[in-house]
Amino acid sequence: MNAPAQNQNAEIQALGYELVRSFHVTMRTIRSHGWSNEASLQGIESFVDASNKILSVLGEFGLHVNSEFLFVNDVRLKVDALGRTMFDGLAFELQSRGLGSVLFDGELNRRGVEAFLESILLTTEDEVAQDPQNVVDRINRAMKQKTIPVEVIIVKDENDLPSDVDMDRKERAKKAFFKAVTVARAVLTSAHLNKRLNLRRAKRVVQNMVDLMMEEEFTLMGMTTLKDYDNYTFYHSVNVCIFSLALGKRLGLSKVQLSELGVAAMMHDMGKTKVPIEILQKRGMLDSAEIQVMKRHPEAGVRELVKMRGLSSLAFKSMMAAFEHHLNYNPDLPGYPAVRNRFKPHVVGRIVAIADCFDAMTTKRCYTPKAVTRDKALAFMLAQGGKKFDPVLVKIFANLVGVFPVGTLVKLKSGRLAVVTEASEDSTLCHRPHVKPITNRQGIEVEQAEIDLSIPGPNGSVPDEILCAVDDESVGIDVAKYFM
Ligand SMILES: [Fe+2]
Ligand SMILES: [Fe+2]
Repeated sequence: MNAPAQNQNAEIQALGYELVRSFHVTMRTIRSHGWSNEASLQGIESFVDASNKILSVLGEFGLHVNSEFLFVNDVRLKVDALGRTMFDGLAFELQSRGLGSVLFDGELNRRGVEAFLESILLTTEDEVAQDPQNVVDRINRAMKQKTIPVEVIIVKDENDLPSDVDMDRKERAKKAFFKAVTVARAVLTSAHLNKRLNLRRAKRVVQNMVDLMMEEEFTLMGMTTLKDYDNYTFYHSVNVCIFSLALGKRLGLSKVQLSELGVAAMMHDMGKTKVPIEILQKRGMLDSAEIQVMKRHPEAGVRELVKMRGLSSLAFKSMMAAFEHHLNYNPDLPGYPAVRNRFKPHVVGRIVAIADCFDAMTTKRCYTPKAVTRDKALAFMLAQGGKKFDPVLVKIFANLVGVFPVGTLVKLKSGRLAVVTEASEDSTLCHRPHVKPITNRQGIEVEQAEIDLSIPGPNGSVPDEILCAVDDESVGIDVAKYFM
């Protein structure tokens, strides 16, 4: 790309980001605080401003949703970890209404943006379910009547979209991750709204992850470092799915078994959709009555899953994951829910329990304001082998994530900080993973190439050594961005 083209691309990236941000935030604030709220008014202003600026650079343009990505014309908008929620959110808002593209054919003013957003927000689920083309026609008719230069286009069938073959595997793994978050959000939201559950989409997205797991395991594991406080449940569901798949893979499960395990893991906290939001999002400790309500989520999950039409083996595995993930391996130690006799969890429940605990411990949540570093979580979990967890499975899990799991921030002997990007292939060298140094010796963030700490240099000396893990939040470093 030549310099002027490069500059234009950077400008479109920045303006596109602003358009997505204002589009998403404004829809959300209008819905929760109404049209006359100060934030809604400001959002509309920003929307007008961003769309008109893009128009002045490109002329008529389209904002397109393609699976989980957003494009301005054919430029894919890049996003950092923080912006990901907005991008996901807007893609979901548009796709759930059957909309695939918004075409901006001329300059907009605030009246035009208001009318456009209003026509989108009017869409009902029934309208989409009956015929999404009606939604598109209704919005376009309204825009024409009011001479507003905006047009929408129906979302394309996923099969019509350009295939992933041109995308490199890393990109595909990232795409699969975000798609899984979207699907987890859709399934859990429909459970929350008491709608009939359909695990077909979940199965499709997990099958894709199983394929990618074979070659891009570390990219997927790296994605689990993404922190999204607002969407904790959806990201947690996908992370638990990824850790369960990685463990299942080491146990030699077949692809079919892995797919079922992955979907089951993704659904393990389904029952939380029935826990009142005030308890789920309460800051600080829960009182004993609230803990009792929270502890009902495994049974609530089974109750939701049992409502599904046609109880397949996939549904049963999902019920096991939901019911058993807080039970202890040792039947003499109480977990929850209370069970009779000396109940021993199924292997699916035992795997999901390990994946669940690891992700929960290493993520900051409302009631655990501080996350534990990945290596400390692992040490705690290993000590629980034979008690809380299956001793063999937890050892295999510890081995697969390594002494310094992918996504851990570490301090190197050279004084640099680095992010662990891949475990060493040789399990005897698990303390020497691949790392990407991210700061210089003075602690200033600088881009550097990844190094394999297990490969000695020409004079036999190792390239660097890990001294210890560092809490990424305490040093203010967002590890996830190095996997994006
Ligand atoms: Fe749970
Ligand atoms: Fe969980």
